[in-house]
Amino acid sequence: MFNKIYLIALFFFAFIACLASAGAINPKINVPNSSTKWSAGQTVTIQWDVTYFDGSGQVKIPEEATGTLKLGYLEDGDEYNEHLFWDLDTGFKLASGARSVTLPADLETKTSYIIVLMGNSGNASAKFYIRAAK
Ligand SMILES: *[C@@H]1O[C@H](CO)[C@@H](O)[C@H](O)[C@H]1NC(C)=O
Ligand SMILES: *[C@@H]1O[C@H](CO)[C@@H](O)[C@H](O)[C@H]1NC(C)=O
Repeated sequence: MFNKIYLIALFFFAFIACLASAGAINPKINVPNSSTKWSAGQTVTIQWDVTYFDGSGQVKIPEEATGTLKLGYLEDGDEYNEHLFWDLDTGFKLASGARSVTLPADLETKTSYIIVLMGNSGNASAKFYIRAAK
């Protein structure tokens, strides 16, 4: 039978392991920024750094990494809810550093929209053996 402490510890370690292996690529977004003003329905270009912080330094985004762009907004007093209701694009190459998307036409006026860019690091095969040429 499981006891509660054991379960909590298990979840905790699973969480840490997940964080450590995720290898998330989260490059800095340059456009939009605090001076950006866009209109609903407009086609806009989102731009981000082609390097990211991998835990020890800035490294180039790998060519195979793909990303997802979402639009959300923040509300006063509820800063952890990003209201990411709109999927703008997915499956594009993160290393390109920019993506043109069309904003939904029915957006309300707000000063607190945010763009979230999520990347994965692609995946590597298992380790395998190659012998040097003679
Ligand atoms: C901020 O975004 C605008 C476009 O909305 C862009 O022209 C400008 O270069 C951006 N500023 C920075 C510091 O990237
Ligand atoms: C990477 O690939 C391995 C082997 O195919 C798989 O077991 C693992 O779940 C994959 N990891 C991710 C993050 O997709």
